[in-house]
Amino acid sequence: MKWWQNTIVYELYPNSFKDSDGDGYGDLKGITSELDHLKSLGVGAIWLTPVYVSPMGDNGYDVADYYSINPRYGTMEDMDELIEEAKKREIRIVMDLVFNHTSNECEWFKESASSRDNDKNDWYIWADPKEDGSVPNNWRGVFGGSVWTYCETRGQYYLHTFGDFQPDVNWENPKVRNALYDIANFWIDKGVGGFRLDAITYIKKPADMSDGPVDAPDNMVSVHSMTANTDGILDFLHEFKDQVQVGKDIFVVGEANGVPASELPLWVGENGVFDMIFEFSHVNVQFSGGEVWYNTKDWKLTELKKCFSDSQKATKDNGWYPVFLENHDQPRSINHFLPADADPVQGAKVLGMLMMTLRGTPFMYEGQEIGMTNIDWDNIKDYDDISSHNQFQMAKLNGLTTKQAMECVKRFSRDNSRTPMQWTDGENAGFTDGTPWLPVNSNYKTVNVASENENSGSVLCFYHQMKTLRDEHEVLKDGNYTELFQNSEKIYAYCRENAKEKIIILLNFTGEAVEVKMDDLGIESQTGFRILLSNCGGERASEVSKQTEKVNLYPYEAMCLQVD
Ligand code: NOJ
Repeated sequence: MKWWQNTIVYELYPNSFKDSDGDGYGDLKGITSELDHLKSLGVGAIWLTPVYVSPMGDNGYDVADYYSINPRYGTMEDMDELIEEAKKREIRIVMDLVFNHTSNECEWFKESASSRDNDKNDWYIWADPKEDGSVPNNWRGVFGGSVWTYCETRGQYYLHTFGDFQPDVNWENPKVRNALYDIANFWIDKGVGGFRLDAITYIKKPADMSDGPVDAPDNMVSVHSMTANTDGILDFLHEFKDQVQVGKDIFVVGEANGVPASELPLWVGENGVFDMIFEFSHVNVQFSGGEVWYNTKDWKLTELKKCFSDSQKATKDNGWYPVFLENHDQPRSINHFLPADADPVQGAKVLGMLMMTLRGTPFMYEGQEIGMTNIDWDNIKDYDDISSHNQFQMAKLNGLTTKQAMECVKRFSRDNSRTPMQWTDGENAGFTDGTPWLPVNSNYKTVNVASENENSGSVLCFYHQMKTLRDEHEVLKDGNYTELFQNSEKIYAYCRENAKEKIIILLNFTGEAVEVKMDDLGIESQTGFRILLSNCGGERASEVSKQTEKVNLYPYEAMCLQVD
C-alpha cells in the first residue's frame, strides 16, 4: 500500500482552526501549535484549503498569488516551519490547487483585462457580446447570475464558473498550463505531500458555447450541466500528471463533480489521471436536482448505503476511495445524515465508525472528531458564505417565503462547517484571544477538545479508539468490502475481509434498539462474537461475546465484530 492509502487525511480550514495572534482568524502558527492533536488521531496528511494571497471573496478560492502566503495566515517562513514540524511527526502537508480560475486581482488577469493585445490576452476566456450587446450565452454560474461579466477596457465579457471575481483561466493555452504546472512543482519542491485539485472538472469548455436549454425561471441553464467533464479534459489532466506527478511521492485527489462511476477507470488508478477523486452522491442524497438547496426530498438509509456501496464497488479495482462525510462546503454530518432528535454523541460515533471502516482513505474534516454540529442563525445577514446568500435569493425568487428560504440556508449553509474549532470551554472556545471572524457555535462548553480528552465516553476518545483499531487490524485498510443486510432501513452492515481476518461492522442508524440475527448476515459462530469496539462501552464486549445467534444493538450503536 502507498503511504496515503495507509493513513488518515485531515481537512483543515485555516480561517477557523487556531488563531495564534489574536486577529480573530486562524493562522499557520496556530496549526503548527496543534499538530500533536492531529497526530493523536492518526493523521498522516493535512489538506489545507487555500492559504495563498487572496482578496478572500470566496475564502481563498480566489487566488491572487500562488507563490505567496496570505498575510492573514502568516509568512512563507511560517509555512516552511509548518511543513518541517509536521514532517517530524510523519505528517505531510497537502495543498489545494485552485486551477480552474484565479482571483480578478491576480496579475495574470489584470494584464489580460488591460487590452486585447497584451502578452496574456488569451490567458482567460473572453467573448464578444451578442449583437444586442448582451451576454454571450445563458449559462448560470455556480454562485448564481450569469457566468459572464463585462470588461470595459476590452469591450468583451469574461467567463467565470463561480463568482464574478473568479475568472476562469484558459486551459487551451499551453502557456497557461505550463504556468500552472510550475506552481504545483514549486510546492512539491517545498516538500508538500500532495494536492487537492479544486473544481477540476470545469477546466475544459465545450467548442460550442451557445445557449443551453433553460432550466429555471431565471431563463438560464446551469454552467455545470454545460461544461462539467467536457470531452478532451483528460488530455489536459494526463499532461498535468506527466508534468507534475510522475515519479514523485505525492498523491493527487480531484474534486470531480460530474464524473460518473462508469468513467472512473479513466480518472483514477494506473491508467487514470489522479490517485483519488471525490464523488458526491452520498452528500447529495437529499437533493432532487437543479443544484438548489430548496429542492429536497425525503431519503432512505438504503439510498445512502447504495451510494457508498456503488463507490466501494467502483473503486474496488480502479484507484482508491477518499471517504468523507464532511468538508468545508457541506453541513456537519450529524445534522446531514441523522434525524434532528438523534443523540449527537452516539450519532457522531456511528458516522465516525462508518468513515473509519469503509475501504479507502478517511478524509476527516476539522471538528468532526469532536462531533461539532450545525449552527442555527436566523438572519441571512449573519452568514459569511457567498453561496448561502445566493441560495437564499434563488429560493425567494422561486416563491419561498423568507422563513422557508432561511430554513434551507440553515440546513445547507457552508458556514455550518466553518465556525471556529472548539478547543476548550473557555472564552471563544480557546480559538482566539480576539473576536472570532465567525461566531463560535454555542455548544462549545461541552463540545470541545479539552473536555473530550478528559471524558472516556466522548466522540474524541472514540476517534482515538478507532485509530488504534485501524492500526491493529490491517483488514480495515486493505480488506474487501461486502455489504450485508442490504434492505435494512435501520442498520448499515458490512464486512471487511482479507486473507487473515474478517470484521463485521454494524451501525444502527435509528434511535431504537434493533435485533440483528447473525443468520440474516450469513455469519455463523459456535463460540460467540468478539467485539473489537462499540460506542456503548467496554462492558458490551462481555455481553455480546456470549451471544451466538443474534446481537441486540442499542439505539445509535456502532460496533465492530471480529469473526474468528
Ligand atoms: C470548490 C470549493 O470546495 C469551494 O469552497 C469553492 O467555493 C469552489 N470550489 C470555487 O473554487
